[in-house]
Amino acid sequence: MRVEYGHANRLPESNISTQFKFNVTACEPYQTFQVAFNTDNPQNILIELPMPTLSQFLQQHLAEHQLPAELGSVVSTIVQACQTISGQVRQGALAGVLGEAGSSNVQDEAQKKLDVIANQILIDSLSTNPAVAGLASEEEEQFVSINEQGRYLVLFDPLDGSSNIDINISVGTIFSILEKPAGPLSTQSFLQSGRAQVASGYTLYGPQTQLVLCLSHGVAVFTLDAGGQFVQTQLNPKIPQATREFAINMSNQRHWQPPMQQYIAELLAGETGPRGKNYNMRWVASMVAEIHRILMRGGIFMYPKDARDPAKPGKLRLMYEANPLSLIIEQAGGTSTNARESMLDIQPEGLHQRVAVIMGSREEVDYATRLHQQ
Ligand code: AHG
Ligand code: MN
Ligand code: MN
Repeated sequence: MRVEYGHANRLPESNISTQFKFNVTACEPYQTFQVAFNTDNPQNILIELPMPTLSQFLQQHLAEHQLPAELGSVVSTIVQACQTISGQVRQGALAGVLGEAGSSNVQDEAQKKLDVIANQILIDSLSTNPAVAGLASEEEEQFVSINEQGRYLVLFDPLDGSSNIDINISVGTIFSILEKPAGPLSTQSFLQSGRAQVASGYTLYGPQTQLVLCLSHGVAVFTLDAGGQFVQTQLNPKIPQATREFAINMSNQRHWQPPMQQYIAELLAGETGPRGKNYNMRWVASMVAEIHRILMRGGIFMYPKDARDPAKPGKLRLMYEANPLSLIIEQAGGTSTNARESMLDIQPEGLHQRVAVIMGSREEVDYATRLHQQ
């Protein structure tokens, strides 16, 4: 006889022998264990653990790792805002939120209506939390001061993948939480390396709305249920070290530097080339969706430096995209670099700083990074 642990609902009801189905009281945070025989596999006993909600997870996780309750409150505030954003994204044309806003952000990118709406929802929510000292957003030129006595700084990309909004393809919200250094709040307060992040996460508005959260002690994945609750559906996903899948915008190939040209040429050469295996390619054009795919099944994601604009070392932003997602990738066993050094060790110089990105399965990221160092 073998005992398996799993989540409630993992077996179809018809597979559970009701004759033996009963609940026993167990310790916190799980209220009950359900013990059942799987009729497809009667020699196995399945002990089913009810899936914790986000608030149950936070309560348990903060206590286990002795993290401040205020950090949990900031995470909860961000997640509430993301739920509101999710509602707007789902409504789409029905709520009149699709299309261009008719404005540009500090990076001279045309804003979509939902970029502006998501940004405002996050600012409004975070402004009500006294633990938030200030925030910085991809869509705001300067940081926004909230409560000088607050302990935390929140940085976010309110809507990532905005070119996909109007075509009903996955988009997301990415966030990063830092401790506020002592003294008056200034831009400098935010310019901390990715390693200093106390938490990061993203919400993916895809076929399911999912939250991926990291408080620097592993990665938890939650799915928004029909009742509006985030329920933990996965704990500590592990990114395979090796992969056969890469993600890059191939249309920029002619602009890349020689090491990236060589790396991609080697992947395209397949099993008769130097890497000795065939690779598949994916490009969603929402970084948050690419990183979620890599978290679930491995892969390498790249947005390299290219020759188009010497002032821009890459397209993606260090503080709102690369750092928060790199923390999650590292905690899940992957790695992340700017082709020269570990992403999380970069000392930021500006709030809207851009960076070259190579992240995902360790074997590929290390190989691509090594090519840049030769
Ligand atoms: P954002 O919508 O926040 O500006 O970010 C879009 C980013 C990223 O999500 C994605 O990987 C990349 O831009 C897509 O770039 P291409 O347009 O070159 O495909
Ligand atoms: Mn983005
Ligand atoms: Mn964005």
